[in-house]
This record gives sequence, structure tokens and C-alpha cells, in this order.
Amino acid sequence: MDALECIATRRSIRKFQDIPLEFEKLGNILDAARFAPSAGNLQDVKIILVTDEQARQDIGSACVEQYWVGTAQVILVVCTDPDKTKRFYGEKGVLYSAHNAGTAVQNILLAAHDQGVSSCWVGAFEEEKLRRIVGVPGNAAIHAVIPLGYADEKVPMPVRLTLENVVFLGSWGNRIKDIAAYMEWYGEHVQKAIKKGKQLVSDFARRLQG
Ligand SMILES: Cc1cc2nc3c(=O)[nH]c(=O)nc-3n(C[C@H](O)[C@H](O)[C@H](O)COP(=O)(O)O)c2cc1C
Repeated sequence: MDALECIATRRSIRKFQDIPLEFEKLGNILDAARFAPSAGNLQDVKIILVTDEQARQDIGSACVEQYWVGTAQVILVVCTDPDKTKRFYGEKGVLYSAHNAGTAVQNILLAAHDQGVSSCWVGAFEEEKLRRIVGVPGNAAIHAVIPLGYADEKVPMPVRLTLENVVFLGSWGNRIKDIAAYMEWYGEHVQKAIKKGKQLVSDFARRLQG
């Protein structure tokens, strides 16, 4: 799967099969987090790997009763050490730590999906409860819980805004009417044309045979 396809087809999955996750895949997923960018390359992200069934159930409960989280075979709890970033960047370090966690989480989700493993970024949790379960000290921050496993559901692509509603040209609020034409970016258009062309050819071939 190429990177763009991986980005576009990843989905949040909330129902998992009772199938163990291979260590080789898990290793690749964890390594993807290690390769994520971080402010000043400070790499303050720490990941707690949870496989114990009771702990997984407790984590599901701490995620404001999202019990499905505990049904995943593996849970990653993504934390950072903001003391490290604050030493270099002052109070801004707290924000950078959160960003560092975000880049690691996204790499985890994509590396998982690339290998056929499903996941979901879970940000709703009772922090103190979660701290106690996985023993995170007060100076460290918990950013995300990521259940990992094999999907037991198929979910459609949720609606996304169009590029016109996401991108402003030069200044806030300045929308581009037809961004594809503006950028001479015909990715989507060309794909549609190719699909239409293929359909015409196969219709023509069918008619010749008949
Ligand atoms: C910061 C953040 C927190 C999230 N927290 C939760 C959560 O607590 N529970 C949940 O089911 N999904 C959570 N999600 C997943 C989103 O609901 C999901 O990404 C969104 O609906 C789009 O679906 P997709 O991931 O399949 O594209 C979270 C996503 C992000 C980025």
C-alpha cells in the first residue's frame, strides 16, 4: 500500500476479533512511533504496551466506559515527558510535547493499517484512573490510548470537508473556489475520467461481442 492510499483508507475501528497480534507487526508499529518527528528531535514520547487482559478491561473502563477498548488484544498508552521539552522551550514545551505525541500516534495508526491491523485514537479518558492503572508519574502527560487488533467490523469513510473548506489562500478566510483548477491538481478528476473511460471501453467490447 502506498502512503497516500494508507492515509485515505485508515479508519477508526471499535470492534475487534479475539485474534492475537503478531509480535513482528507490533514491533513495526512501535518502531513507526520512534521515527515520528519531534520538536528539536527531543523524542520525549514514551509508550506503555499493555497486553494483560485485566489491565485492558480497566483501561476500557477508564476511557469513560468505552469498554470496547479493552477487547483489543493490545493497547498502547502514549505519554510524554514535558519536563524535557520545557527545559528547552519553556512553557511552549508543553504544547510541543502534545504535538510530539500526535505525530507518534498518527505514525502508529498508519503503520498498523499498512499491515492490516486496526486501531482507534482514543482521547477520552479519566486521567487519574489511567495513571494508576499504568503507573504514569505526575510529571508525565498521558495523551492517547490506542487499542490495536484485527477488525470485527467494516466502517464507511466518515464525511470529510472538501479542500475548499479547509484551505485558505494567503490569509484566513480567503477561500479558493476551485482548488483543483487553481493548483492544476487533477488527481481526483483524472481518476474519475479513467474510470469513465474504462467503463466506455468495456461497454463497447460487450456490444461488439453481442
Ligand atoms: C484527539 C482524538 C481523540 C479521539 N477520541 C476518541 C474517543 O475517545 N473515542 C472514540 O471512539 N474515537 C475517538 N477518536 C476517533 C475519532 O472519532 C475518529 O478519528 C473520527 O470519527 C474520524 O473517523 P476515522 O478515524 O475513521 O477517519 C479520537 C480522535 C482523535 C484525533
